[in-house]
Amino acid sequence: MELRLAVRQRRMSRNFTGRPPDPGVVDAILADALRAPSAGNTQGRDLVVLEGPSETKQFWETTTDAAWRARSGRFAGLSRAPVVVLVFAAPGAYRSRYEEPDKRPTSGVPVEWVVPFWFVDAAFATMTILLRATEEGLGAAFLGNFRGEEVLRVQLGVPGDRRWLGAVLLGEATGPDPPSSSLARGRRPFADSVHRGAW
Ligand SMILES: Cc1cc2nc3c(=O)[nH]c(=O)nc-3n(C[C@H](O)[C@H](O)[C@H](O)COP(=O)(O)O)c2cc1C
Repeated sequence: MELRLAVRQRRMSRNFTGRPPDPGVVDAILADALRAPSAGNTQGRDLVVLEGPSETKQFWETTTDAAWRARSGRFAGLSRAPVVVLVFAAPGAYRSRYEEPDKRPTSGVPVEWVVPFWFVDAAFATMTILLRATEEGLGAAFLGNFRGEEVLRVQLGVPGDRRWLGAVLLGEATGPDPPSSSLARGRRPFADSVHRGAW
């Protein structure tokens, strides 16, 4: 599939059949995610891969509450995703990297982290997963970090200094998958978003 097509066809899938994807395909997608650009080539992003209902169930229990699960029309389809990839960022790795001689600011003043590069890198890797999944014909959805980060870390043995960006659900998509209410906002027109020369 051409990249342009993958970009245009990619959609968040919120209903999965539950059928496990080919493990080789999942590994290929994850390997490509690790080729995403990385600030200072720090590569301070880690992927915790949960596979099958016994591993994914705890993720749902930790990151959603019972009231939401009961009222959400989407929970059943989402929670059938056979693979959940949790994307973690390592702020400390970037802080250390940018203290190294080739990166340390010549002013001697530590980097201010106006933009936390650890989240940028984690997001680039995440986007690569979404696009590669599209190319492989798999459904994928990114779910943001709303709750459960601390508990997830403990449950999964993730080092305490890591930050959780969110989760990518992967698997065979199915219908019905009614469009998210967010899509009613439409796309901002090109000319509203792209500012040539100045805003
Ligand atoms: C940072 C971020 C957090 C998101 N969190 C959620 C989420 O928790 N649940 C969900 O269903 N979709 C989530 N989305 C998906 C957006 O709703 C979706 O990308 C947007 O509506 C555009 O739809 P499309 O990706 O299918 O084109 C998230 C997207 C981003 C970038």
